[in-house]
Amino acid sequence: MAIKKVKPILCSYLPNNIISNEIISQMVDTSDEWIKSRTGIEERRICKDDYSLVDLGSNAALEAIKKGNIDPAEIDLIILATSTPDDLFGSAAKIQYRIKAFNAAAFDITAACSGFIIGIITASQFINTGIYKTVLVIGADVMSKFVDWQDRSTCILFGDGAGAAILKSTIKQHILGFQIKTNGELNSELTLSSKDLLQQNIAIQVFNRQYNFIQMNGKEIYKFAISKVPEAILNCLNTYQIQIEDIDWLLLHQANIRILKAIGEQLSIPQNKILNNLYKYGNTSAASIPIALDEAILENKIQDNDLIIMAGFGAGLTWGTVIIKWKDKLN
Ligand code: UT7
Repeated sequence: MAIKKVKPILCSYLPNNIISNEIISQMVDTSDEWIKSRTGIEERRICKDDYSLVDLGSNAALEAIKKGNIDPAEIDLIILATSTPDDLFGSAAKIQYRIKAFNAAAFDITAACSGFIIGIITASQFINTGIYKTVLVIGADVMSKFVDWQDRSTCILFGDGAGAAILKSTIKQHILGFQIKTNGELNSELTLSSKDLLQQNIAIQVFNRQYNFIQMNGKEIYKFAISKVPEAILNCLNTYQIQIEDIDWLLLHQANIRILKAIGEQLSIPQNKILNNLYKYGNTSAASIPIALDEAILENKIQDNDLIIMAGFGAGLTWGTVIIKWKDKLN
């Protein structure tokens, strides 16, 4: 009997325009030393010209389709996790058309840096009920288009990128457990909010909406991440009766190296089990987890039957955890 390949197929796509800390230091009052020591970031990728979210997401998806040798017509559902769509009505449909996945339903979800984790959890629900067999989950963000490049407290952090995962119906054997949490009370600590402007010279009173830049209370988000994320991971492990020692890899949203280390320490997970590519790409929001997962697979770090804990956290505030067993074969 032929062995079925059942692991999710992962691919990432990054713009090739590299912005180093040195370049940012010429724009705002900061330094390579400050950025590296406080965040772990050395450079990030930024989309040039009018390169769009749909371009990034489609390219990651097309790479995954090629890698998995999948007919796009097989895809039943596309979930695009993004907070920076090209179109507020959603960008998933445009990606569906671009990648010729004409049989797929497609929609966006907005959950900031937890988006990919929530996307994977959502996909697994459709798969577990037997409704869909093949689901494409894309985590993509063009943060550079929403960052105030004169605000040193945020512009040093973010980058653009996309990651795509194709989940087949056998994925239900891999997702061992998950948890999603939200605390809207702290919503204002990290926002990409809007303002409504009164329109002049028209007969009725109407307001049109314009978007502000990303605003973040870094200290509060830092505190939230290092307290709530380890707590959620431990709860999730307890619920599914998995011991921390059994975890092979900790894959956290790539926000800040100090956050990654602090969470690892609290969970007693050694540094060599924490995946980190923050130094190359900065914080790519919904894209950061699939990009890091793709790289870890390419570097042969992740082996068959490895247990991976993935956790996203950020605006909302939202945080989500998934425990995955990485398997190659059905058994
Ligand atoms: O993806 C969503 C999740 N986001 C996160 O998880 C981000 C969480 N927060 C963080 O990663 C950190 O809070 C930051 C990296 C954003 C900031 O690091 P920090 O160690 O919390 O710095 P701080 O905000 O406490 O600022 C310390 C000092 C301040 O100066 P004073 O008041 O001590 O004189 C800031 O004005 O550093 C100053 N500062 C900078 N200096 C040089 C802030 N940004 C910069 C900068 N370069 N870019």
